[in-house]
Amino acid sequence: MSNLNTETVTSVRHWNDTLFSFTTSRDPGFRFKNGHFTMIGLEQDNGRPLLRAYSIASANYEEELEFFSIKVQDGPLTSQLQKIQPGDKIYVSRKPTGTLVADHLLPGKNLWLLSTGTGLAPFMSIIRDPEIYDQFDRVILTHGVRHVSELAYQDTIENELPNNEFFGEFLKGKLMYYPTVTREPFRNQGRLTDLMTSGKLFEDLGLPKPSLENDRFMLCGSPAMLKDTTAILDDWGFKETRGGELGEYVIERAFVEK
Ligand code: A2P
Repeated sequence: MSNLNTETVTSVRHWNDTLFSFTTSRDPGFRFKNGHFTMIGLEQDNGRPLLRAYSIASANYEEELEFFSIKVQDGPLTSQLQKIQPGDKIYVSRKPTGTLVADHLLPGKNLWLLSTGTGLAPFMSIIRDPEIYDQFDRVILTHGVRHVSELAYQDTIENELPNNEFFGEFLKGKLMYYPTVTREPFRNQGRLTDLMTSGKLFEDLGLPKPSLENDRFMLCGSPAMLKDTTAILDDWGFKETRGGELGEYVIERAFVEK
């Protein structure tokens, strides 16, 4: 297939029963913007590839590609994908694309990355991009999940990145992380939407309520999360980037039915 690269799985990490991530080799010609997604998949018994859209969780300067996935027991792709092992082959489309890129937003001071579930993936790429810390004074990553065990990448966000020898210094004091859990006790609880409307999210972070002048948003989650979150932002007067016209927020569906 001309538009597909074949990559080799280099590592697999199972976060819990429902989530895993993995890294692959990267064709040196494969270019993408941080925040992009691409189609990935496996060859089927009939010889054809079965592909689904996945956000790229690694940054575009890294040697390997990284993906973050749910495991759906009867999911056509993830029922197979969750069994991959280092050395296995995987297809990666050569045509990454997407709207969650910083130059799709009006300039601002605070960049809010609002995610639920596997919607975290594109933001793992974006927070590893040193340029984002030039463009914004603050980058606030939120991750809403049902259970504590779904808070993947916590250690990377809280410890590894701030201590990264190349850009740890940029990120320190600029990257804020707000994980929240809805179905068991945790230090932050409740849906992001409720935390926004009540103002608790901003109080907890010690930040003012977002303003049209200063705040920009990227959203990635389930269709219901996107619908409810955009309704709040619209109500507050923020506009989505559409066509060529830059606004204060951009959205992408977390690609979940796999
Ligand atoms: P809840 O447990 O109250 O459903 P999911 O795995 O279903 O995508 O959910 C991931 C997280 O997103 C959960 O914490 C869930 O909360 C939350 N969530 C689900 N629907 C919405 C919504 N419409 N707005 C905001 N958060 C949501």
